[in-house]
Amino acid sequence: MSATDLDTAHKPHRLLTFNILRYDPKDPASTPRMQQYRIEEAESMTLFIVLNEIREYQDPTLQFDFVCRAGICGSSAIMVNGRPQLACRTLTRDLPDETTLAPLPFFELIGDLSVNTGKWMRGMSERLQTWVHAQEKEIDLHRIEERMDPDLAEQIYELDRCIECGCCVAACGTAQMRKDFVGAVGMGKIARFRLDPRDTRTDDDFYELIGDDTGVFGCMSLLACQDVCPKSLPLQTQIAFLRRKMATMGLEGVPFVSRFISSTC
Ligand code: SF4
Ligand code: SF4
Ligand code: FES
Repeated sequence: MSATDLDTAHKPHRLLTFNILRYDPKDPASTPRMQQYRIEEAESMTLFIVLNEIREYQDPTLQFDFVCRAGICGSSAIMVNGRPQLACRTLTRDLPDETTLAPLPFFELIGDLSVNTGKWMRGMSERLQTWVHAQEKEIDLHRIEERMDPDLAEQIYELDRCIECGCCVAACGTAQMRKDFVGAVGMGKIARFRLDPRDTRTDDDFYELIGDDTGVFGCMSLLACQDVCPKSLPLQTQIAFLRRKMATMGLEGVPFVSRFISSTC
């Protein structure tokens, strides 16, 4: 055991205080309130462990979500001292002695820290048709899969790492003002399918989906989404690219500007 390990082992653990926003929208008698819990910190403790210990030993009524405990399913996102992050990937050693936990804003509240991100993600996915629109071909089970350039496959994979946690939407100023905004997650998905050579949709089709204030032109480019994305997706580059592309396409529809673009680009 190293000297540092010994130091850590003998260091008294902190007594942590958690102020958690409690509210059950299904109970007419419930009103939003902060409830305080205290818990002794342990080595490598995550917020996921804290919430489970509170529910196990102090308050079985506390509602929160989790599935994978490994930053993969996206369900444990909550507001931690005002910042959206995954409870299962947040270590208490990175938090102060007193922490405030609240549910993600924007999404439908189920109760306490639990929100229905799945319902919103499904609606967004149906609206933006986030699946490969392949050309109608007769199904041939013996057909050999088409090869894809490895660099392109890597770029698509990079965007496919989104876990639909909702952190980017919870941090987004535009989403707080307009409920129909598709968020960075929606624009990231369009960027992903636009790259996919198997998807037969054109830029005009994508323009129809996000070429307005509910998409790229509603984005204020302050990039809180990229700051909070737990998977470090390249949202900034993708949103900037899509907006430039869509702005050019929008201007091409204006006869005078269209002549200007074609004579200068
Ligand atoms: S883009 Fe990032 S923050 Fe947004 S839903 Fe996907 S993983 Fe979460
Ligand atoms: S850059 Fe756009 S999508 Fe990202 S948080 Fe800001 S307004 Fe929302
Ligand atoms: S529990 Fe799955 S991301 Fe945290």
